[in-house]
Amino acid sequence: MYNKMEIISWVDKLMIKLSSRISEISPSMTLAISAKANELKAAGEKVISFGVGEPDFATPAHIVQAAKDALDAGKTKYVAAAGLPALKKAVCEKLKKDNNLDYEPSQIIISNGAKHPIFNALFATIEEGDEVLIPKPYWLTYPEVVKSCGGVPVYIYATPRHGYKVTAAQVEAMITPKTKMLIFNSPCNPTGAVYTESEIRAIAEVCLKHNIIVLSDEIYEKLIYGGESHFSIAAVSPEMKENTIVINGWSKSYAMTGWRIGYLAAPKHVAKAIASFQSHSTSNVNTMTQFAAIAALEGDQQPMYDMIKAFGERREAMLAELENMKALGFDYVKPDGAFYVMLLCYNFYGKSFEGKKIAGSMDMCDALLSYEKVAATPGICFGDDDAIRLSYALSMEDMLEGLRRIAHFVTLLK
Ligand SMILES: Cc1ncc(COP(=O)(O)O)c(C=O)c1O
Repeated sequence: MYNKMEIISWVDKLMIKLSSRISEISPSMTLAISAKANELKAAGEKVISFGVGEPDFATPAHIVQAAKDALDAGKTKYVAAAGLPALKKAVCEKLKKDNNLDYEPSQIIISNGAKHPIFNALFATIEEGDEVLIPKPYWLTYPEVVKSCGGVPVYIYATPRHGYKVTAAQVEAMITPKTKMLIFNSPCNPTGAVYTESEIRAIAEVCLKHNIIVLSDEIYEKLIYGGESHFSIAAVSPEMKENTIVINGWSKSYAMTGWRIGYLAAPKHVAKAIASFQSHSTSNVNTMTQFAAIAALEGDQQPMYDMIKAFGERREAMLAELENMKALGFDYVKPDGAFYVMLLCYNFYGKSFEGKKIAGSMDMCDALLSYEKVAATPGICFGDDDAIRLSYALSMEDMLEGLRRIAHFVTLLK
């Protein structure tokens, strides 16, 4: 017979030791909230979710049909690891038409969603200890990908007072001899901030001066409201294009989150290296999805315009409600893009409900879920505890009801 201590010591020895690289990765802070929301839903509660990070629209029918046609035509085999030539050509045409960027198909790598090319781009360029500048609030994946590639995230605070945008001077002030890259995201998740062309040109100038690579995540490019238009930082000049890796995809513009397809456009030597790496890591994105992605780019764009219009109407309605909610102590910055708004809640921190103190955005979201059955994402997940993120990728009716519940909740705080 073995004693308990001997067994524990064997288990300890046998247990797989995690690499230091993966131990650096933080668990998702949104998990507890979404698990609780799911529990409440399963118990039959009507939970209103402002947490959604994807369009609540179906993928347009002609795109779905293209995937079905591809399957019927037997397009079920391996294809080139970096993507179907016809798809890469369609992406080049899109980049020319929408962004005034000239790329050759060999500079395009098709990957799993927009997340995967972000990882590929950092893996290809970041050395151990390199600093990567990230405007904060940030999309929560960026710091984790930076760390997983051996880099060090360095945050630049984008304040509500400045429309949640960083200036070129702020970027320059954070540059050290170790700075390798700036991750730039316009329109931005979570703030909805959209940088103007002149703001982008000023940031590009600083990056070129200090030889800083820009990773430009343009996944929300099509979701812009109120007159602004998207300008890719790579379009600033030929030099800037050589200094930039553009990330984009189909998830948000074509309501294709579950299809898992996105791309990067990069200087030739970078794309070549990433193509080799991808051929050994994931190989090609599933073949029928690539046919669907061609149909998305080349087919009818009206469903996308209809979706953008619906988001625009919800945004207007949401902002009108938030304006009224200012009287209760809330504040917000008008977002020009994506489908999110940061609702500033710091005025309520320190107050309590039923003896439970609201110390920050996590407590605020927890309490909203428990008492009002409203799910939202704590700002702390994006590096900003002052706010909670509300997505307007939900029906107008639910959105208005959810906002009423949030407004009601704060009237109960003591
Ligand atoms: C800013 C940003 N970049 C990239 C992605 C990843 O998109 P995908 O689902 O295509 O991987 C997201 C998804 O939420 C995002 O918000």
